[in-house]
Amino acid sequence: MKVLVTGGLGFIGSHTVVELQNKGFEVVIIDDCSNSDENVLDGIKAITGKKPLYEKLDLKEKHKVENFFQRYQDVAGVIHFAASKAVGESVEKPLLYYENNIGTLVYILKELCKKNKASFIFSSSCTVYGQADKMPITEDAPVKVAESPYGNTKQMGEEIIADTCKVTPSLNAIALRYFNPMGAHPSGEIGELPIGVPQNLVPFITQTGIGLRDQLSVFGDDYPTPDGTCIRDYIYVVDLAKAHVVALERLMNEKNESNFEVFNVGTGTGSSVLEAIKSFEKVSGRKLNYKIVDRRPGDITSAYADTTKANKVLGWKAEYTLEEAMNYAWIWEQKIRD
Ligand code: UD1
Repeated sequence: MKVLVTGGLGFIGSHTVVELQNKGFEVVIIDDCSNSDENVLDGIKAITGKKPLYEKLDLKEKHKVENFFQRYQDVAGVIHFAASKAVGESVEKPLLYYENNIGTLVYILKELCKKNKASFIFSSSCTVYGQADKMPITEDAPVKVAESPYGNTKQMGEEIIADTCKVTPSLNAIALRYFNPMGAHPSGEIGELPIGVPQNLVPFITQTGIGLRDQLSVFGDDYPTPDGTCIRDYIYVVDLAKAHVVALERLMNEKNESNFEVFNVGTGTGSSVLEAIKSFEKVSGRKLNYKIVDRRPGDITSAYADTTKANKVLGWKAEYTLEEAMNYAWIWEQKIRD
């Protein structure tokens, strides 16, 4: 079975390519390298023994997308990671986000609608829930007004897929709503490669730990949580990658109950920023230089997943703890700074 992985050189994409190849899928990657590196292909080969097919292509170029699907008629499924994901940047450049994240989604769906049968997995985010009223968050929690154009592209993306599936019985899709992905492959061959100053907590922690940044700013300790810092559900990237493979197999084996389904992908456990820092200090044996500063605008207090649906329906469960994931994130950070 040939599977197209867009954004397959990126953080979650590359880990998913590894899990797909481990399961015997033949993978073709499309990536424009705007936030990734072709060396990732060597990392994937080192782990799986096989270099995936790869095309450097900008999905915004519609005719190139059409041409790709003409050349690869045997692509039976698509896992669509390629997207821009910086919340702040999306506020500054909304049209860039709508073009990158929505335009490209439409082009791919148009091609899949031409097929007799197609499976599609979409990278969505827990950001669609905003500050949910109840914890843990179930999939039927209301989708809140998006805080940013980035968040809006995830909500709109899900709606576009749902509308398309409604009138296209040959198209089967799953949206995976990720909580907070982190970590790196246990082999140390692939991991997160943030360009510039990381916006996300875990790469900022490991970069501070290694001495690349002076200090981590903890954004607020006056939230209504046990230690005052925000709570998130940190999901190990290999666990998350495996969820994609299971979701794809569900569609390919026609086990899905409707032709558009949504699943939370998290651990079900919430951890505070201070707990994440403690876990780093434990695995690294180093003290982390951090300082409590003002809240970051737009941050929600707490978000962690109810994973019952993914556990029962997909038969998938996160296996790694925050500490194990942090350990691999730290091994990776040390390796790339070597
Ligand atoms: C953010 C996005 C989310 C997106 C996800 C992608 C926002 C509000 N949300 O999630 O839409 O899907 O990234 O990865 O931007 N923190 C610090 N210091 C730092 C960095 C983070 O204290 O230097 C704290 C934050 O306040 C938050 C937690 O760490 O409580 C996690 O932050 P982050 O990794 O940026 O993820 P989210 O904000 O949950």
